[in-house]
Amino acid sequence: MKTNQIQIFDTTLRDGEQVPGCKLDTAQKLVIARQLELLGVDVIEAGFPISSPGDFQSVREIGRIVSAPVVCALSRAVKKDIEVAADSLKTAKRPRIHTGIGTSDSHIQFKLRTTPDEIIRRAVDAVKYAKSFVEDVEFYAEDAGRTSNEFLARVIQAVVNAGATVLNIPDTTGYCLPNEYMEKIAFLRDNVNGIDKCTLSTHCHNDLGLATANSIAGAMGGARQIECTINGIGERAGNTALEEVVMIMRQHEHLGMHTNINSKLLLETSHLVSESMGMVVQPNKAIVGDNAFAHSSGIHQDGVIKRRDTYEIIDPAEVGVDESRIVLTARSGRAALAYRFKNLGHNVTKVQLDSLYEEFLIVADGKKEVEDADLEDMISTSAV
Ligand code: KIV
Ligand code: ZN
Repeated sequence: MKTNQIQIFDTTLRDGEQVPGCKLDTAQKLVIARQLELLGVDVIEAGFPISSPGDFQSVREIGRIVSAPVVCALSRAVKKDIEVAADSLKTAKRPRIHTGIGTSDSHIQFKLRTTPDEIIRRAVDAVKYAKSFVEDVEFYAEDAGRTSNEFLARVIQAVVNAGATVLNIPDTTGYCLPNEYMEKIAFLRDNVNGIDKCTLSTHCHNDLGLATANSIAGAMGGARQIECTINGIGERAGNTALEEVVMIMRQHEHLGMHTNINSKLLLETSHLVSESMGMVVQPNKAIVGDNAFAHSSGIHQDGVIKRRDTYEIIDPAEVGVDESRIVLTARSGRAALAYRFKNLGHNVTKVQLDSLYEEFLIVADGKKEVEDADLEDMISTSAV
């Protein structure tokens, strides 16, 4: 592994599946798990086995069919959860238990109604207990985003000493600003002894639309694993979108960060998850939305027809999109109209184009989008 290799931890099947109304059955989860393996994710968080017999079964089956990625199961810092997680992972070639507890004042006082020292004790016990079943134990400090860096460092020091291999620092409520999150990760990296033997992980929620920015900031601060979901699905406003962090690292090579993801499979993976969950991807979604490579205004169309990268920073083929789309609307210009006629096999002269363009604007003002059939009609009835 290169030093700046970023592990992609996919939690589509656990945090992602927590989206209301989007539950998947085991068969659907297996299809997605296979696709995630093809995509090249390093870790698949397959479920929260104590939560239901169905989830337990899914983790079991995923462990059976997946070969390369680590298969991870979530548990609270509770003995029974850890035992069930360990049991569900018996089929996995590379099992990981992901256990943890809330560390912010709000979690300690109001949710868990306990003391900071007791949180550390429970965290350590959970990690040690999980280690009695598997070697690879990831610890999460829930609501780390709103936990003071000093207390967080105490918790993380204790779990590192207890044998945690991966340290997940979730911004559970999507609260942090990118610079704060980067500083939090860097603070831990600089103040916890032995942390260099472990992998620091980001886990960012999108309540303020900052999940992706925070994950990249966390990686710049020293994290070497990013937790994310396909299409950014997840609780409330969702999690970090896998496709976004992967393409940011690809587009900004100067960051020196790499992933194992085969980006050409991003679009088909996005469609698979969206269709399985019955959850539409917003058209303007970065990388995988229907409009991510569509151009509809005249100025942009003219630029992109002359040279694609005038308005596209990513080659659509890199993410599995066949080609950019020139969409004809009342905002389109002559260049786009000529381009689309040419694609239909009609090489129109400049004089013909001037006349067709007048007709086109009348049609376009009456519709959201002018289709190929409209263009064929125009040509067949045109006087020129
Ligand atoms: O957002 C969160 O804190 C989580 C943990 C359970 C890892 O999903
Ligand atoms: Zn989460």
